[in-house]
Amino acid sequence: MAVIADRCPGIQVTVVDLNEQRIAAWNDADLSRLPVYEPGLDAVVGRSRGRNLHFSTEVDAAIAAADMVFLAVNTPTKTRGLGAGQASDLRWIEASARQVATAARGHTIVVEKSTLPVRTAETVTAILGAAQADGGGKTFSVLSNPEFLAEGTAITDLENPDRVLIGGEDAGAIEALAGVYGQWVPQERILRTNVWSSELSKLTANAFLAQRISSINAIAALCEATGANVREVARAIGTDSRIGPKFLQASPGFGGSCFQKDILNLVYLCRHYGLEEPAAYWEQVVKLNSWQQHRIARLAVRNLFGTVTGKRLAVLGFAFKADTNDTREAPAIRICRDLIEEGATLAIVDPKVEPEQIARDLGCSPGGAASLSGEGGWVPAASPEEAARGADAVLILTEWGVYRQLDWAAIAAVMRHPAWLFDARAVADAEAARAAGLNVWRVGEG
Ligand code: UGA
Repeated sequence: MAVIADRCPGIQVTVVDLNEQRIAAWNDADLSRLPVYEPGLDAVVGRSRGRNLHFSTEVDAAIAAADMVFLAVNTPTKTRGLGAGQASDLRWIEASARQVATAARGHTIVVEKSTLPVRTAETVTAILGAAQADGGGKTFSVLSNPEFLAEGTAITDLENPDRVLIGGEDAGAIEALAGVYGQWVPQERILRTNVWSSELSKLTANAFLAQRISSINAIAALCEATGANVREVARAIGTDSRIGPKFLQASPGFGGSCFQKDILNLVYLCRHYGLEEPAAYWEQVVKLNSWQQHRIARLAVRNLFGTVTGKRLAVLGFAFKADTNDTREAPAIRICRDLIEEGATLAIVDPKVEPEQIARDLGCSPGGAASLSGEGGWVPAASPEEAARGADAVLILTEWGVYRQLDWAAIAAVMRHPAWLFDARAVADAEAARAAGLNVWRVGEG
């Protein structure tokens, strides 16, 4: 919404939320304190806030005044009831649709921006249709307009998208939304489809991207076993223009709020329509991902003489990818939990993730020194060097740029030897680490 406001000075954009604290944070005079860390976002908000970008808790008033309402509420995986563990929880989308139905005036275009299961537009249309039938001159058109930005590059992805996708039945509504994006996106990149294709394209795009990561991680394990190098293999296959070079980086597995959730959603939809083989096919992408995460914890334990009880291990990076403070489904969570379960004490550092967030994700407060009693735990560290002090191993779990330039001589000097570097992102200078006397494991390298 901030980018729309920035690119379309003639459109008034009001972002509303029931959460007063969150809205207050978006209105904070200090732009470095916005609730989301995203490179370039502070500048975009700074340019348009107060001009044509507003943050408010006056939800009904903003709906009543709007020609177009974007529904951008969260749709996490259900944790209980029918479809638990796979289906999306649609309670917030339904509540928002009901609120729009009540508060809207005149004709309103309702745009689904949240990632939704296919045929959700039907639910939204049914709720809005009931309000329309009540009279009072309200009318609605529903569009699907999924978002393809990635975290860390959100602003450039929005300013220069590969495509904008608009699904709908009402040509006038589609053109109205296309007119908004058309103020900065070339016409040929604005794709128009039916509403179901649009909803399904979002899930499919994420499923294909995640599948590439599970594919390359499967090959990484084979490279390690055979003496091949996954980065050489990725380069060799990526030059085939049909395959392409992107999303072929072996890793500790994909994280983030979307990939797993969207694939599970796809799996649930396939099963719902009786398509067991396609369901099992896509489910395997998620299974391989969690296998990769456990595998990295296991191989660290194996190389540290089969036990990490009472040992200190330094964990560099906790975010699910670089340039974000987001830890949702981060591979670091599962790997750290496994190591703590094995009795290790982890010293965790991340340039953007707060210790409070790490405590929530790991389900335990920091504290305690490494001991042979078998009780694992974790402590926050202020720098990689501090984390490494007295540690038997350093694990790199997020590909932050700063981890490419670490001073391995200085780090090795404060570790307990024999010491290891487990680089699950292959970003560190492995030669320098070896020269400093460390044993080095890099993902995908035999
Ligand atoms: C992903 C998609 O890339 C976006 O197009 C989509 O809009 C978004 O989900 C969404 O549905 O909201 P995001 O999760 O922000 O974006 O980040 P990605 O860059 O896709 O990375 C996801 C995970 O895959 C990260 O943990 C990353 O480290 C991992 N990854 C990525 C790899 O392990 N290897 C790669 O080669 C690329």
